[in-house]
Amino acid sequence: MKTATLLRTGAVWLAATLPLMASANMNLALDKGCLNCHGTPPRGQAPTMAQLAQHFASAQGNEAEIARRSAHLREHHLFGGVPAHERLSADEAERFVRWLVDGGR
Ligand code: HEC
Repeated sequence: MKTATLLRTGAVWLAATLPLMASANMNLALDKGCLNCHGTPPRGQAPTMAQLAQHFASAQGNEAEIARRSAHLREHHLFGGVPAHERLSADEAERFVRWLVDGGR
């Protein structure tokens, strides 16, 4: 196959796959009850997903910061913790953080 064809195939694959990945994470957010608090309107003091995404955008391309935020999200708090956060696996937390860093859509 010629390089141009390969590139074009890759671009088509990406264009078809990226929105699917994004909505899979949105479904995960629904599944895990994240949107009960982070939806619009948000519940109580919770920031909306859009606000979180805005806040997390600064970690783009910064692997250390992404890892730190993923770990921080699921940290256990004795008081005032969010059980939905603490129940996340390391994998899920990282997926959510990456999703938010990339705009949360
Ligand atoms: C019971 C309500 C509630 C639910 C459910 C909930 N959150 Fe939160 N979340 C909050 C509140 C309140 C804050 C702000 C205070 C804090 O950081 O603990 C927050 C903060 C966050 C933050 C920012 C934390 C940080 O480290 O700065 C992220 C990211 C987040 N939530 C993601 C999620 C995800 C992903 C889910 C689903 C698994 C979820 N939340 C479910 C209430 C909730």
